[in-house]
Amino acid sequence: MLDGAGLYIHYPWCVKKCPYCDFNSHPIKGEVDQQAYCTALLADWATQKRPGDYFHSVFFGGGTPSLMHPRYVGQLLATLPINPDAEITLEVNPGTHEYMDFADSRKSGVNRLSIGAQSFDDKQLRNLGRVHQSDEIKFAFNKARGAGFENINLDVMWGLPEQTVAEALQDLQCAIELQPEHISWYQLTIEAKTEFARRTPILPVEQITYEIETAGLELLAAHGFRRYEVSAFAQSSQQCQHNLNYWQFGDYLGLGAGAHGKRSPADWSNKTEQPKRVSKTSQPRLYLADPIASTEQLIDAETIALEFMMNALRLVDGVDWALFEHHTGLTKSNVETQWSQLQTNELVAATHCGTTKKGLRYLDSVLQAFI
Ligand SMILES: C[S@@+](CC[C@H](N)C(=O)[O-])C[C@H]1O[C@@H](n2cnc3c(N)ncnc32)[C@H](O)[C@@H]1O
Ligand code: SF4
Repeated sequence: MLDGAGLYIHYPWCVKKCPYCDFNSHPIKGEVDQQAYCTALLADWATQKRPGDYFHSVFFGGGTPSLMHPRYVGQLLATLPINPDAEITLEVNPGTHEYMDFADSRKSGVNRLSIGAQSFDDKQLRNLGRVHQSDEIKFAFNKARGAGFENINLDVMWGLPEQTVAEALQDLQCAIELQPEHISWYQLTIEAKTEFARRTPILPVEQITYEIETAGLELLAAHGFRRYEVSAFAQSSQQCQHNLNYWQFGDYLGLGAGAHGKRSPADWSNKTEQPKRVSKTSQPRLYLADPIASTEQLIDAETIALEFMMNALRLVDGVDWALFEHHTGLTKSNVETQWSQLQTNELVAATHCGTTKKGLRYLDSVLQAFI
């Protein structure tokens, strides 16, 4: 049973592919048969579901789910077993606002939007191959507010090609001025097999990225955005519940092309079975042809501690050791040697399963200890 689990629904198409993006996203060629995709998602659900499934958060991610007609979003939300108080997020590319009826999305049950702003500088938006300009971000944001969305995230990237400290802070300032409830502030990473990996732009040197990060964290904090995860900042209690569940190593079900899920055994308490990952084929064409096919992989006892740490240690406050035991079937003693070494180096906490400030900054080195 997926009690307290999240539900992820992937919409794999975009207007065009951004050169830095390694998500499962495919430029639209011709018309997308959205009814067929919605039918495939429901068939996918029918084969993955288990008695008692009940979702506490839903996330429509992409790709560009803001291209999905609210009729289909509504159809899915009405069919799947979702807690009436669930956080239901939909990712929006501001360049698609003209296709999107924000009021209908709100009526369909979506109650949180995540808008991919990336930058407010038109030159950078062109560098990033975005389909929108800066003023469209503000337009989409205000349109969303007008339609009754009271919970909005803005995605902003930093460390952009040849970006200065002042430019990065100006981007953050523009995001803050819109007064969203949440900001995700990601450092641009060059991912293998992307256009940027083949033709890498000139990126700011380490000294500049250090200065951007330090000043950006201060600016966010000064405006009440509390950092609760490496790249996630929220006003008061507006943390993203769906992502918190991932970072707390909770279970989730994934529907759609390239979607992933994680499931603990039905009776996890006796610790005789291992959790598993379920993944769906990433090609939309193949998924539409066979939405039922999936690949399953057990998370074995050797890697589960690392997987847990890769998620939980991203959280600024970490988690209790009880959660580690609950989700991995291990006890703290299984990682005691690594933990005390990290503690000696002041990278992790003594009181709970979490990093120190220094450990969060050098998270990759901390995680090395569990490989
Ligand atoms: C699944 S993407 C999609 C949202 C939506 N399709 C859009 O682009 O507007 C979620 C976020 O990840 C971030 N992101 C994507 N690729 C990245 C990269 N290579 N480095 C850092 N952040 C990245 C972007 O901020 C993006 O908004
Ligand atoms: S719009 Fe979003 S998902 Fe699509 S290619 Fe660009 S970054 Fe990737």
